Amino acid sequence: MDTSISTLLDVREAAERRRSIRAFEPEPIPAADLEAILDVVRLAPSAFNVQPWRFVIVETPELKARLAAAAFNQRQVTSAPAVIALYTDMQDALATLEETVHPGMPEAQRAATAAHIRGILGKQSPEDQESWAAGQGYIALGYLLLAAEAHGYQTSPMTGFDAAQVREVLGLPDHVRVPALVAIGRGTEEGFTHHRHSLDRIVRAA
Ligand SMILES: Cc1cc2nc3c(=O)[nH]c(=O)nc-3n(C[C@H](O)[C@H](O)[C@H](O)COP(=O)(O)O)c2cc1C
Repeated sequence: MDTSISTLLDVREAAERRRSIRAFEPEPIPAADLEAILDVVRLAPSAFNVQPWRFVIVETPELKARLAAAAFNQRQVTSAPAVIALYTDMQDALATLEETVHPGMPEAQRAATAAHIRGILGKQSPEDQESWAAGQGYIALGYLLLAAEAHGYQTSPMTGFDAAQVREVLGLPDHVRVPALVAIGRGTEEGFTHHRHSLDRIVRAA
């Protein structure tokens, strides 16, 4: 049995501790830790189980400097040992739907399900498809922020960047959307305490 799980924070603790952190220790993140975090993110749900998210891990100072320039020189991009670019690719997702339709279904049902999904999403313009995918991508972003915290790493999610420039820096094709960049590492600042709506303010019975 893998006992390392006992060292992780539970969801409540991770959510309470997580804050946006913009200054980090420079030490690289062990590949096994990044993999463990992304292996949680991989489990995020998405509509039709399409999983349109893809990730690029940026660790070289040269690429981080170019990413920072694309992200209005936000300091966390060069401070963090790694920046994860979360992008979505509906061309890839729709072309490979057979990978994501559940294998537990009988073959005929799998084919019909893939055709059904292609019928619905394939009708949208490429821009609408990527907007839809970005919505799914933010589910993965939430998982990523919590999973990182649970594994002892801090993060800074960002939408403040020029997406075309980010695509260019990372060699991504024009059609993909970039919902977020996430700086990740061991934080060296406290961040702000939570300032959130009360439940009363945002929840009501129908
Ligand atoms: C999707 C998303 C995009 C964000 N973009 C930026 C950003 O570009 N730059 C930045 O400094 N903070 C960014 N933030 C951080 C928010 O300002 C921060 O999450 C919010 O103020 C709550 O503070 P906390 O994260 O410390 O709890 C972003 C957060 C989210 C969730």
